[in-house]
Amino acid sequence: MFETLTKAPGDKILALMGEFAEDPRTDKIDLGVGVYKDENGKTPILNPVRKAEQRMIETETTKSYLGIAGNKGFGKSVLQLVAGDSVDHARLRIAQAPGGTGSLWVLMQLIKRARPDATLWLSDPTWPNHKPIADNAGLKTETYPYFDPTTGKVKIDELFSVLDGLGPNDVVLLHGCCHNPTGANLTNAEWDRVADSLKRTGALPLIDLAYLGFGDGLSADAYGTRKVLSSVDEALIAFSGSKNFGLYRERIGAAILLAKDPDAADIANSQMMNIIRSSYSQPPDHGAEIIRTILEDDALRAEWETELEAMRNRMISLREALVEAIRQRSNTHDFDFIAEHRGMFSLLGLPAEAVDHAKVENGVYMIGDSRINVAGIPENRVDALADALVAAAR
Ligand code: LMR
Repeated sequence: MFETLTKAPGDKILALMGEFAEDPRTDKIDLGVGVYKDENGKTPILNPVRKAEQRMIETETTKSYLGIAGNKGFGKSVLQLVAGDSVDHARLRIAQAPGGTGSLWVLMQLIKRARPDATLWLSDPTWPNHKPIADNAGLKTETYPYFDPTTGKVKIDELFSVLDGLGPNDVVLLHGCCHNPTGANLTNAEWDRVADSLKRTGALPLIDLAYLGFGDGLSADAYGTRKVLSSVDEALIAFSGSKNFGLYRERIGAAILLAKDPDAADIANSQMMNIIRSSYSQPPDHGAEIIRTILEDDALRAEWETELEAMRNRMISLREALVEAIRQRSNTHDFDFIAEHRGMFSLLGLPAEAVDHAKVENGVYMIGDSRINVAGIPENRVDALADALVAAAR
């Protein structure tokens, strides 16, 4: 039967991860996959995570099933973390899911059930896995203008020229904060406008919230999501705990839905439960129990917030150091936008040849569209990286 198959395309981010691992150069720099690295180039296990795991080993009494929605305490704490008091929680439902990708998968399947002929609008550019997940769910996709690589900023007028013309058959995928791949984000005033537009047009927001706390802080990064939740009847959110809790391989995330009232929320939730049961039955508990333990315990939560702040501040300092080093070498302000961007990534706007040049000549690995993972820059290699980028951009 397999002779009917043709080779499926690989994922460019994960392919680059493999290519980097195989490069024998010891001075190579990995700015590819979105994984946080500390000043020693390691992806650490956060201290509150270790403590929560220790506590779990000591207190866990069973490995029996949890149920389709997963860990209830996790769900409650994550809803508070994401939505705060922006909306009546009786209108919200949450299902723990395997990572941000698993959450998006569940939510896109739900969209397909609710409106099979809906169009899902993706930012241009967006995370390269968004479209494959939508394709998998059988959803039509279109793109809306988002990023101007010549200025490094959001094309705000062009964005609204599309958004304002949408209707109830449209779903808009928005990055809640820390836009991936560009690093260029909406201001609070622009989020207000987005919320107004969605309310007016009836288009459904699907918010990808994979980097909460990596931009300007936990509540600052939740501004857009909360504004939208407080303005519209219906919304979907895909939350990820991969980056902010450093739990990448535990695959922990959550699919959240907002409906116009509790009865409508129950109906939509029953469909979400049905989707999960018929795909992976129930989510695994480990990552969820870690997050629940941290969020429900004042001391562990404070420690987590402190470590999250340290990661965030380090990324901001690296941005500033890289901009300064590039400025000194190029005598231009062409890359100043890197310091304005927030989150893990910046899209440099370099052509494919320049990306290739940096890799071949200097062992600098960035995604083919010239996305760099700022957290991958070793402090003592900022100058070398600036040399490589300036040479590649020539
Ligand atoms: C990324 O964009 O690099 C991360 O979200 C990791 C992934 O799964 O692609």
